[in-house]
Amino acid sequence: MTRILVINGPNLGRLGSREPEIYGSQTLADIEASLRERLADAGELDFRQSDDEATLISWLHEAADTASPVILNPAAFTHYSYALRDACHIVSEAGVPLIEVHLSNPHARESFRHTSVVSGAALGVIAGFGAESYHLALSHIQTLLERQ
Ligand code: DQA
Repeated sequence: MTRILVINGPNLGRLGSREPEIYGSQTLADIEASLRERLADAGELDFRQSDDEATLISWLHEAADTASPVILNPAAFTHYSYALRDACHIVSEAGVPLIEVHLSNPHARESFRHTSVVSGAALGVIAGFGAESYHLALSHIQTLLERQ
């Protein structure tokens, strides 16, 4: 069974209390539980969060090496981490799907959020639908896996 890696970047462990007017009241654990419920027996979900860039990069290398599809919320690293972007490129280059997700719509927010250095190395981007962004990404990965 293919393992799907859900990787969350910095400050996402604070969801629930962090700017609920933007990110909603669900915690990251709530989002994880809803994804597990949706996936049920259809696949294996490996859900992770780190505030540390090096750790996130090592998880992306792991995804490339183990051919594990990735749902990635790079959080603030989205906007400036070329190292994270290069790691995403390594995943894509390995033929492994990687979807960038955001809870909020960064384009409707401060101008520094309008740039994603990650998007060019992703299969696609889903943003602005709250936790549903993750579900939409999961749904697409399931479609890709069914086609294999
Ligand atoms: C975010 C958007 C980013 O701009 C921000 O830095 C985050 C969360 C989102 O999910 O909406 O931490 O990635």
